[in-house]
Amino acid sequence: MNSIYDKLMKCYDCFQKKINFTPEIALVLGSGLGNYASKIKIEATLDYHDIDGFPVSTVPGHQGRYIFGYVENVPVVCMQGRVHYYEGYPISDVVLPIRLMKLMGAKVLFLTNAAGGINKNFHAGNFMLIRDQISSFVPSPLIGPNIDELGVRFPDMSDIYDQKLRHVIRRTAGHLEIPLHEGVYIQLTGPNYESPAEVQMCKALGADAVGMSTACEAVAANHMGMQICGISCISNLACGISEQPLNHAEVQEMADKAAPLFEKLVTGCIID
Ligand code: 6GU
Repeated sequence: MNSIYDKLMKCYDCFQKKINFTPEIALVLGSGLGNYASKIKIEATLDYHDIDGFPVSTVPGHQGRYIFGYVENVPVVCMQGRVHYYEGYPISDVVLPIRLMKLMGAKVLFLTNAAGGINKNFHAGNFMLIRDQISSFVPSPLIGPNIDELGVRFPDMSDIYDQKLRHVIRRTAGHLEIPLHEGVYIQLTGPNYESPAEVQMCKALGADAVGMSTACEAVAANHMGMQICGISCISNLACGISEQPLNHAEVQEMADKAAPLFEKLVTGCIID
């Protein structure tokens, strides 16, 4: 038995014993969206601590629980808080919560994050629809024996961020008159922010925004055949793009400031 799959199944058993709810959409709440729970008609919650073997976050501002409920009439499961690779978990643990949401029944994965802007047209507080990603600086979550129950050994990644969902998000942003950039998200391990030279490297590679999450989650979800979409909140400009040094509190503050609009956009997309 594959030990990673074994652990996932134990978490799934735990979920099944405690929760009777089938979500359609899985939503990962990044920095700034932590309060999105207040927009959900909550049916149940499940603390990460109460799932045997589940990875639990240590970052301030990242609460740890699943929320089950409805956005309008759409059944969703929401991750309030995620674990990051830089916390020291194996990458298979980092994506376990995503895999679990697929097992719960979610067919669509809606990823959100706070990211640093690289594209010179971006400003703090903007939003970026993720068109594609670069995950090559973190290990693939699919390394190790393939879990055939989840997906194939060599999954195609030509359309990670679903075209149709991207169209829905663009249209929703248009209706709500929320400006929406589009671009490529690059994941680096963190926890340090990038040096200006590293930001230039990311730019040369074709990235528009940089963060420490999301891309590995999208790889694991794509492996399982989920339909994926993602939006970054550009909480700040990356080093060297802006003259200002970065600190986590300010990044969080800007993400919080953008939260009301971000929430509107996410809700609009879910109910569309
Ligand atoms: Cl500038 N870099 C990274 N890696 N993650 C971020 C960020 C920057 N701003 C918000 N999240």
